[in-house]
Amino acid sequence: MTNPPETNVELQHTAKRNLWMHFTRMSAYADGDVPVIVRGSGPYVFDNHGRRYLDGLSGLFVSQVGHGRTEIADAARRQASELAYFPLWSYAHPRAIELADRLAELAPGDLNRVFFTTSGSEAVESAWKLAKQYFKLTGQPERYKVLSRDIAYHGTSMGALAITGLADIKYPFEPLPPGGVRVPNTNFYRAPDFVADDVTDFGRWAADEIERAILREGPESVAAVFLEPVQNSGGCFPPPPGYFARVREICDTYGVLLVSDEVICAFGRLGHYFGSARYGYQPDIITFAKGVTSGYSPLGGMLVRDALMEPFNRGTATFLHGITFAGHPVSAAVALANLDVFEKEDLLGNVRAHEASFRATLEKLYDLPIVGDIRGDGYFYGIEMVKDKDTRETFTDEESERLLRGFLSTALFDAGLVCRADDRGDPVIQLAPPLICGQEHFDEIEHILREVLTEAWQRI
Ligand SMILES: Cc1ncc(COP(=O)(O)O)c(C=O)c1O
Repeated sequence: MTNPPETNVELQHTAKRNLWMHFTRMSAYADGDVPVIVRGSGPYVFDNHGRRYLDGLSGLFVSQVGHGRTEIADAARRQASELAYFPLWSYAHPRAIELADRLAELAPGDLNRVFFTTSGSEAVESAWKLAKQYFKLTGQPERYKVLSRDIAYHGTSMGALAITGLADIKYPFEPLPPGGVRVPNTNFYRAPDFVADDVTDFGRWAADEIERAILREGPESVAAVFLEPVQNSGGCFPPPPGYFARVREICDTYGVLLVSDEVICAFGRLGHYFGSARYGYQPDIITFAKGVTSGYSPLGGMLVRDALMEPFNRGTATFLHGITFAGHPVSAAVALANLDVFEKEDLLGNVRAHEASFRATLEKLYDLPIVGDIRGDGYFYGIEMVKDKDTRETFTDEESERLLRGFLSTALFDAGLVCRADDRGDPVIQLAPPLICGQEHFDEIEHILREVLTEAWQRI
């Protein structure tokens, strides 16, 4: 074993020799430095050169309460000293019990049962497995298929990947578990012509497409529909009015479970503890992760309706699924401390009080020729970039490659903003700042975006 690297040269050398970064073209760092973030404070992070960046993506939609909270770190330290680990297999520990109680209290309706995981992918995977086993236990064993939206991201484990609607990240791992079925997403900016004039008609059409897919597949074969309250991938698609009410109706008609994948949208991102509460719909299962701990320790899980648990309460029935580190005591203690911060500082109130000014500040960017659409809710926005505002023409693959990877990602970071330039759908910039942010941070985001997007346009 070597000593820990200290200088930037050593860090770079060791990172390039030993570290494999996720969803990263490693070749991109052949001629340049790997960015190394060493600490954080409030909505800012700092690199190993001491440069400061506004964390406009909360890391990866995670750091709701911001960085450097010693009260949460202290909760982790106390728990690790008292009981660092014990499994939730047959046993329980106090922090998991307390957290399950608190989440059930916050969750909408009768979502009272919490199954913990360590990540969002595991939460999604668990929800699908629960749906399959639930239907086997209740005499409908042929229900196994899952519907989800085009371009939606639901995670990377094989099951979650089968639910994900991004062809490019699935192909290398095919064949995937059978049963993933796609329905249209809710990008009104790119709505088909026949519903492009009225967002309610568009929403009705998009929801009805779920019914058509269920009928096409055979209702007796469909287990669940997985939807995010606001779809992230593709650049923040809020639900059109009436969309979720109609989806709920369709699910009830055909006995299909509605899973609200709130890995991003829960814990204040939309000004509510759960995104489904913002849009007034009742899911059968909510999957969560990320913001539940604000990233001070990993945790995920699913919240499940009492009725789904009921068959597992009888005789020898057992949900045959488990994860060693799920509901880890340190993570559960951290989540409780994180929720204390939410309450003490009224972070949901902060998002609700400032979301209109966040939107208004971003909308100033509409005067730039490259800005086609700005969409989102709460502290969660996507900015779609276009080549022609009037026709909404998007960039070619080559232009997109040159614009996003060749310029924007690095230029935004160099200008002091952590955000994401993404082309999994049409090219977008994604923003999700910590929930503690206010006008000064929105102005900083707008200022940096204005400078960098102006230069990007000149380079096209
Ligand atoms: C909606 C959604 N579901 C699932 C996941 C997977 O979560 P994880 O990366 O924690 O496995 C993500 C991750 O970004 C997500 O956004």
